[in-house]
Formats: sequence, structure tokens, C-alpha cells
Amino acid sequence: MSDPIRPQTIDVTRYERAGFFRAPDLLDPETLALLTARVEALGARPGPEVVHEKGTSAVRGIHGCHLYDDVCRRLVRLPALLGLAERLVGEPVYVYQFKVNMKQPGAGAAWPWHQDFAFWHREDGMPADRAVNIAVLLDPVHADNGPLRVIPGTHRLGLIDPAPAAAVADGEHDWRRHVSADLAHTVPDGVAESLARSHGTELVIGPAGTVYAFHPSVVHSSSDNRSADRRAMLLVTYNAVANAPRALSRPEFLVSRDTAALTPLAANTL
Ligand code: SIN
Ligand code: MN
Repeated sequence: MSDPIRPQTIDVTRYERAGFFRAPDLLDPETLALLTARVEALGARPGPEVVHEKGTSAVRGIHGCHLYDDVCRRLVRLPALLGLAERLVGEPVYVYQFKVNMKQPGAGAAWPWHQDFAFWHREDGMPADRAVNIAVLLDPVHADNGPLRVIPGTHRLGLIDPAPAAAVADGEHDWRRHVSADLAHTVPDGVAESLARSHGTELVIGPAGTVYAFHPSVVHSSSDNRSADRRAMLLVTYNAVANAPRALSRPEFLVSRDTAALTPLAANTL
């Protein structure tokens, strides 16, 4: 992109108010094509970092790609994405988590209502929600292919239903329950429905290449993909360096160990 956005010009008001934000166009078509091709190749990896829909060979998610793929390693340092994350978090950041959720046509299963920070705080001990999710739509996303649904403003409620660590049942610490449709830390349906009635909901939709940011504590979910269209969404979570959790037990492909502040690439291309 010849004229990348300058982070200091981003109006963060909407993000602060709603807990999510659709960014101006940040990625050029070549970057998007390169990323999409890489992601398709990475889905064939044999390791546990590639998660499949229950009982099928359909790829649900690919985790930690920035650790083993050069394109993804560079992506997280693109000035436009890194600048956006720094602007929204307000501090130097590193990559806490990198994943691509695939939602295959007719197979991609739902994500129940939840807050990401519930996982990061209870499983990893992340002190505060001083982090941001940057979402890149790799496919066109519309109302029928399982878009993310966000309840605006709920990031300001703190952790809903905050279970003390001791109250987390053993099975809930199994990382497979942090990436499957059987999520360990959810916001009960009744609570989410009531919040949706009072706050409304918004869909994370748009053409391929659209970039959104959403807050670690905003309540969100997504439905099954019953359409014929894949819905691949790449998610980079940037955390404040000073907010890095210290004692980690989950696999590195779910929680990065390298907490050094990222520096931007010289140009906005991969
Ligand atoms: C989804 O891919 O639809 C859900 C992603 C998330 O909850 O972080
Ligand atoms: Mn989530």
C-alpha cells in the first residue's frame, strides 16, 4: 500500500466506547493474497497447532503461525498493524497469540458467548486486559458464514461471572477446550442475551482484507457456518509488554513466550 495510515491519525474514540472498531483499509491485495496462500498451506501441518472440527478433518484453527512461518512472522511487524495495536493499547506490545480460525463451508462450528480475557487471566495469569485483538478477514465475511458477533460496550463490565482460579474445574484447563466449540470459559447464554437486548449486537463483516480491532473483554460469539462460503479470519493478539504473564503452562502455540517489544518493518509490505 503506497500510503499506509499513520497510527497517530486513528480515531480511537469508537474503540474506547464500543470495544471494537473497523479500521481503515490497511492491507494491499498482494499482502492479502500472500497471506491466504500461506494459511492454506499451514492447514496441512501435522502438529497439534492445527485444530480440526470435532470428529472431522475440517481445519478449525491454525495456532501460533508467527512462530514457524516467515510470512506470519513478518505480518505481526507490519507498520500498519503494529501501529494500530500500539495506538489502541497505548504501550509497547508483543504478540501474545496468533491464530487463524477457518470456519469451513457447511462445517465450521460456533464459538459460544465468551470474553477472551477470561481465558488469558484464568489460564495464563494475564494481569489486566491491556491487550488488543487485530482481526484480518481473509475471506469475504457476511451474515451467513459465521461472522463474529460483538456486544458493544461490554468490555467496560470487567469479567462477567468471574470464577476464582480455584473454582475452575480441572477439565477446563485442557487447552483443547480453549479452541473448540466446547469452550471452557463462557458467558452464560441468558446473561449474553440480556446484554444483547440492552446493548445491541454488531457483526464483524466485510470484504476480504477488512481489518477490525476488538477488546479482550468485549463479549462475543459466532454461529455455525451453514453457508457454502469459507470464513477464514486471522487474529493477532498484541499484549502490553508490561502486562506479560509470568508463569505459563499452555503450549507456546497458544501463548507466546517471547515478550520483547516488537519493532516495525521498514515498509508496509510482506
Ligand atoms: C471465531 O473465529 O468466530 C471466534 C474467534 C474468537 O472468539 O476469538
Ligand atoms: Mn474470542
